[in-house]
Amino acid sequence: MNHTWWKEAVAYQIYPRSFQDSNGDGMGDLPGVLSRLDHLQSLGVNVVWLCPMYKSPQDDNGYDISDYQDIHAEFGTMEDFDRLLGAMHERGMKLIVDLVINHTSDEHRWFIESRDPANPKHDWYIWRDGKAGREPNNWESIFGGSAWKLDEQSGQYFLHLFSTRQPDLNWENLEMRGEVYKMIRWWLDKGVDGFRIDAISHMKKEPGLPDLPNPQGKPYVPSFPFHMNVPGVLDYLREICRETFAHYDVMTVGEANGVSSEDANEWIGDSPEKLNMLFQFEHLGLWNTDPTKRIELAKLKEVLTRWQKCGVWNALYVENHDIPRVISKWGDTGNFWRESATSIAALYFLMRGTPFIYQGQEIGMTNTEFTALQDFNDVSAKNFFRAKRAEDWSDERILAELGPTSRDNARTPMQWDSSPQAGFTSGKPWLKVNPNFSRINVAAQEKNPRSILNFYRALARLRRENPVFVHGEYELLLADHAQVFAYERRLGEERVAVVCNLSGAEAEVPLTGELLLGNYEGDTAKYWPYECRVIRLSGAP
Ligand code: NOJ
Repeated sequence: MNHTWWKEAVAYQIYPRSFQDSNGDGMGDLPGVLSRLDHLQSLGVNVVWLCPMYKSPQDDNGYDISDYQDIHAEFGTMEDFDRLLGAMHERGMKLIVDLVINHTSDEHRWFIESRDPANPKHDWYIWRDGKAGREPNNWESIFGGSAWKLDEQSGQYFLHLFSTRQPDLNWENLEMRGEVYKMIRWWLDKGVDGFRIDAISHMKKEPGLPDLPNPQGKPYVPSFPFHMNVPGVLDYLREICRETFAHYDVMTVGEANGVSSEDANEWIGDSPEKLNMLFQFEHLGLWNTDPTKRIELAKLKEVLTRWQKCGVWNALYVENHDIPRVISKWGDTGNFWRESATSIAALYFLMRGTPFIYQGQEIGMTNTEFTALQDFNDVSAKNFFRAKRAEDWSDERILAELGPTSRDNARTPMQWDSSPQAGFTSGKPWLKVNPNFSRINVAAQEKNPRSILNFYRALARLRRENPVFVHGEYELLLADHAQVFAYERRLGEERVAVVCNLSGAEAEVPLTGELLLGNYEGDTAKYWPYECRVIRLSGAP
């Protein structure tokens, strides 16, 4: 058994804009986070991942950084950050921060300098001349439209895989890489406990930046094949690790769209040239393809089991700030809100890996209601509705499409209590509070022993007190069961099972054992809709 603190940890993701406002400006901030550490500690959390709090024009809510070594004024000051870090360390908690190094903001001084073709920093970004009065190639941006923007000053185009205000850094440039490593070491020397590395699988672009095949003659073509997990990306990863992380006792988790379970061992492992874990994306697509389908159970079993058994340590998650709320997709918020939230919780949380809870997930927050296009804030949602209006879509149709899929669903303010604005702010929140806050909030669930919040606490306790849930081997059980996702964890003589009915109907389950945790009272022969049980099959604790 390889003991390391980040394997034993329970992690919690904070989106600072939406967590807690302390000064009434409607925007969450760092003193707000500090004021809520009791909540995190009582949940059993010992690692916090803080989304970008750096200086930024906020075009992509902080993922567009204009100064890596300063704090965005609406979030507070560097002193506030230091206070938060110190307070967390005093409580024995760790803090990891976002590392956004695939791109910067167009207001970063590096980019401003790079707009001059004679400046050596010109090569720090990806600049090209246009082709026949058009963009240098036909790549589409991940946020829609061309991946290139013409800069009037230089007369050239720059590449931006995300928004037009997020120019991609040129990782071929040695000097630029050296500056980035210096910046990373500065944060590590300050005492942060690690990083979540944004868009790490996009840092390498296909050499020559060729056009994509375009049989349908579209203006721009989805460009993932030429910038996602392209050969050579691992050379960058290895260098970053060698130059920075390898010299510190830190936790690293890469956001790795497009990295498969077959590739995973090259990215993750004990070597000083690898990361500790990855956020893989394969299970996310299972709820985007058909919004009317609650859960594609057979596929979900296949994907998660493959990742559990491919030999790497997993980052376990079902929510983050980029995807709609999980129970609005996989669960049943109308009939079995509490039951489906807790069953999904047990399902992913007790697998082999480090579980992450996204803010609000621990109280079963749901997707929100958007009534007009002005309700959306996300830059990719805005791009989408601009493009669709140009194609003559009606606003109703755009709303119907974006409503269940928008990233803003996960970004509504945290629901602390039933007071105005859910206790998030005394001002006007930057994004509307979900109207269900008077029913779904932390204060209400504190009082209820059977609440989702208390179920998450019990999961964290179970994992803390029983090494089998951290270090045990994983085996899928009842592979062909159409309603139930069940698996075993095994450590020495000890065998436990996690059994989750993920359907709204009763289920027969041929497994028995001592009940350690469940989301219904008692344990009858049948499983109720969305019932989950954690049971000991054999072996003493
Ligand atoms: C992934 C982040 O999670 C997302 O919020 C952001 O828009 C993109 N990377 C670009 O930084």
